[in-house]
Amino acid sequence: MKTVTIISAALTLAAHLSAQPTLKDAFKDDFLIGAALNPGQFTEANPSEGDLVKQQFSSITPENCLKWENVHPAPGKYNFYLPDRYVEFGVNNHMFIIGHTLIWHNQTPDWVFQDDQGKPLTRDALLARMHDHIATVVGRYRGRIQGWDVVNEAVNEDGTMRESKWRKIIGPDFILKAYQYAHEADPAAELYYNEYSLENPNKRAGAVRLITELQAQGVKITAIGLQGHYNLDWPSEDQLSDTIATFAHLGVKVNITELDINVLPSASQNMTADVSLKYRAAAKLNPYTNGLPATLQQALAARYATLFGVFMQHRHSMERVTFWGVTDGNSWLNDWPIPGRTNYPLLFDRAGQPKPAFAAVLAAAQAKP
Ligand code: GLA
Repeated sequence: MKTVTIISAALTLAAHLSAQPTLKDAFKDDFLIGAALNPGQFTEANPSEGDLVKQQFSSITPENCLKWENVHPAPGKYNFYLPDRYVEFGVNNHMFIIGHTLIWHNQTPDWVFQDDQGKPLTRDALLARMHDHIATVVGRYRGRIQGWDVVNEAVNEDGTMRESKWRKIIGPDFILKAYQYAHEADPAAELYYNEYSLENPNKRAGAVRLITELQAQGVKITAIGLQGHYNLDWPSEDQLSDTIATFAHLGVKVNITELDINVLPSASQNMTADVSLKYRAAAKLNPYTNGLPATLQQALAARYATLFGVFMQHRHSMERVTFWGVTDGNSWLNDWPIPGRTNYPLLFDRAGQPKPAFAAVLAAAQAKP
């Protein structure tokens, strides 16, 4: 009797869980729902988070394993162990697989820009190195990684172009070359330009100039990625909506590629997602170590509802909304820009349980403006 009761309770629970809508199903007619994964998730060393990813998401992005410093740590040395596992996880689970990221100024070792004497490379030598990297990495996953963040974060806050080592050594056409090499390595792959804070008008104008120039040079950019590192009051609905509309007008899709919402007090007035920023820890900047107060939990849910309301309005211009992480516990926002804080930016809590924000996002899928 007891066993029967337990089994029937388990069956009821299983039926209940499988009847729960999932993110990927709720938005299946609108856009893909993605998450950035760490190795524990895609190697399934962390099976519960691996399962959560399979249950909820239709697209994946590698949080770090395809960044230059990890996949190509030394001259002539490529490290494909984790990227291979990542791609295999996506293929086995029929997910839309993103490559992130080919050309960036961060997480790219200094040697990339130097010869074997430590002197700056010439333009031609750096172009050859860029070509080798892109041909090798994109070529290896040709036909399996379906879309690539080719260039990440090339524009400054004021809309001018960032003086990265790529640009200093190669010149302004380093961006054009990167797209040409990526297209050559996998002509069928979607190619993206990925950037933060484009909701701010000056930076957006810079990115519009960049995309327009690339299009005039014959580059086919499939989509612009708005990283979507947001907080509770930035960007406004209008800023976000105008940003999506502006890029859609250029004939590119608009994806949200790194969505999260910082709920902690900000360490500076500086509205940015520059990963190199670091501030000193202070207790008043880390107020919720024992849990997020209910009012903030609701504010976060309401904020997610608002953002997804805007995405749904623009759903015909969008292909994907990707979260930067799966659970609060593995978000980069626990350590940026101040290390060791307790942040709550995502839809699943530290135990992998859905938060009120999860229900709010699902509800937004019902409205089809
Ligand atoms: C940027 C990069 C991502 C990641 C985030 C923070 O947005 O594009 O790869 O590093 O910063 O984790």
